[in-house]
Amino acid sequence: MDISGRTVFIAGGTYGIGRGLAQRFIDAGSTVVVGGRDIDRVEGVEAVRIDVTDPASIAAARDEVLAKHPDLDVLVTMAGVMLAEDLRDPAHIAQAETTIAVNLLGTIRVIDAFTPHLLGRGAGDIITVTSGIAFMPFPLMPTYGATKAGVHSYTESLRAQLAGTGIHVTELIPPAVATSDQQAKLNPAALPLDGYLDEAVGLLTQNPTPNEIIVERALPLRWAERDGTYAELLARRSESLKNLPGR
Ligand SMILES: NC(=O)c1ccc[n+]([C@@H]2O[C@H](COP(=O)([O-])OP(=O)(O)OC[C@H]3O[C@@H](n4cnc5c(N)ncnc54)[C@H](OP(=O)(O)O)[C@@H]3O)[C@@H](O)[C@H]2O)c1
Repeated sequence: MDISGRTVFIAGGTYGIGRGLAQRFIDAGSTVVVGGRDIDRVEGVEAVRIDVTDPASIAAARDEVLAKHPDLDVLVTMAGVMLAEDLRDPAHIAQAETTIAVNLLGTIRVIDAFTPHLLGRGAGDIITVTSGIAFMPFPLMPTYGATKAGVHSYTESLRAQLAGTGIHVTELIPPAVATSDQQAKLNPAALPLDGYLDEAVGLLTQNPTPNEIIVERALPLRWAERDGTYAELLARRSESLKNLPGR
């Protein structure tokens, strides 16, 4: 994928991996608009307010972006939340609903909002964002894993349905990435954001673009089932449940 001279909207680009990816596109000579609920904190890039759980907000953001940038040709659905849940307490349903609304329905709605525009152009890229957790659960975050597995499956169908239209669909599959100093302290095993982006953008800019952008660190999660390491890895990752209050 060429990341220079493109016009990009990153829903969920106000912070974290999305903001980092925005900078990589900008540095390569692309025009970028980032979207999120809290755009007052955004510096150095055009920002548009969007709440991906709200269809009216998505439509308004889409209209604003396309009015200013009718040549938009890259959409990234980055918005996501990662919430811990205790499945022994039915009150977890609140976290489950939020996670599904943002990660799964939000992704579907944002893609729907921009697909007619991209089809009209007859060319473009949609980049969805899942996680290593789509392929190897992290039991502390059950609905997170379910939504990311869902977005993986949806992405495969989207690619099949858009084949021949000129729109290419790519799935970003990050491992744990530290997007702040606080996160780096909480999870020392997480990749630093810049290191992650160096590797991911290296893969993204290959020609032809791989369907899945999987950095080295995410490979054991992506292929655990094939490699026969699934049960052992899942048991190890289940140790995180000790962090739930009362366990
Ligand atoms: N970091 C990791 O370890 C990791 C690993 C694998 C996959 N991922 C995935 O990568 C993506 C980015 O993760 P991150 O760690 O960079 O997250 P982050 O730092 O928490 O940033 C999340 C982004 O999503 C936006 N967002 C959240 N809820 C939203 C909503 N309702 N409407 C619009 N935007 C919303 C936030 O903007 P506002 O707060 O301004 O709305 C922010 O720009 C997510 O999909 C995540 O699941 C992350």
